Amino acid sequence: MPARLIYDRATLRADVAALQARLPGIRLFYAAKACAEPLVLGELAAHGLGFEVASAEENKALLDIGVGAQDIICGLPMKGPDLIADMYAKGCRAFAFDCPEEHADLLCHAPSAVRLLRIAVQDLDSTSIGWGMSPDTLDAWVAESGGVLAQIDGVSFHLSRNYRPKLLERVLDRAGAVLDRLQGTTSPILNIGGGYRNTLPPHLALKFDLERFYRTVTERLGCLRARHSIRVWAEPGRALVERAGSLQTRVLQVRAAAHEHVVALELNIGTKPGAHPSAISAVTVAGREPLYSLDAHLRGDTGEMPTVVFVDATCEFAPFYRLPLCRVPRVGELLEFQGLGAYTGCLSSRFHRRAFPNVTIA
Ligand SMILES: Cc1ncc(COP(=O)(O)O)c(C=O)c1O
Repeated sequence: MPARLIYDRATLRADVAALQARLPGIRLFYAAKACAEPLVLGELAAHGLGFEVASAEENKALLDIGVGAQDIICGLPMKGPDLIADMYAKGCRAFAFDCPEEHADLLCHAPSAVRLLRIAVQDLDSTSIGWGMSPDTLDAWVAESGGVLAQIDGVSFHLSRNYRPKLLERVLDRAGAVLDRLQGTTSPILNIGGGYRNTLPPHLALKFDLERFYRTVTERLGCLRARHSIRVWAEPGRALVERAGSLQTRVLQVRAAAHEHVVALELNIGTKPGAHPSAISAVTVAGREPLYSLDAHLRGDTGEMPTVVFVDATCEFAPFYRLPLCRVPRVGELLEFQGLGAYTGCLSSRFHRRAFPNVTIA
């Protein structure tokens, strides 16, 4: 049986509700890059979410299932004029940008769209993705071309995997300082990107207190709301779909190596950019009975557990998981890996739902 991803409808619903409860007054735009399968998008649309897309393909998947363009934003900086023009022509009216050149492209190809300046926060948080405009670049740009602060409708940034309230405060202060300078709108947008979690894996749970983190978001936004009538958006991906999705596949082969057992699975998800484009063969969303799963009951604690290395047989034998388990899975056995609903079916070559490049010999 080829691998398939199964999304549990009740878990999707619960995780949407949980994040909505933690981010009161914030409009959620699901970041489709986490899983842009139409069935999953449809479930999330039914919960009234908006969507954040990073490619024409993700945009198309949403329009195809009937999501209105007014509910789609493009949060990706570093996009070319073609993507801007295409999305604008199809109705998208909100775009992030992080450099003067892209701002010029937006003015030209998406003239009446909302323009959100993505600010850099990497100097505050080294785990943050290195995109966004630095404060110095913003100052230089404003000095050079006076009117730009009247052409920006809001600010965006991406939360990293750092859930320290102090750090969040500094990032929100920076965003607030830019909002203070905007001149073109009385109701600017603050888009607090992605990076949210509903639950933390054990190693992060030891370090961070999620409840405190979300309390800080709410309190700090309260301060910002006292200064501006801001509209607040967020682009969660992982938090909404990760827990709901399980990957099911059968064991193809088991080999005993010196200190570990290598278990080959038919995943077909690729492990490196450029790997084969066909991903998981089927995506299902359903209420369902849990199958037997690769979970705590298979994990042992005797100190004598065999280490099992799972590899994708259809790819390059790069390990998928390396786990100490009570017993080695058997050939033909159906395994379920839980909590793989985010960034699994779209791994490597299908990220952003992009097609495999055409091949030519010349
Ligand atoms: C701009 C932007 N928004 C949202 C997301 C979603 O992040 P996450 O799945 O961690 O919530 C990403 C992920 O890289 C992103 O770059």
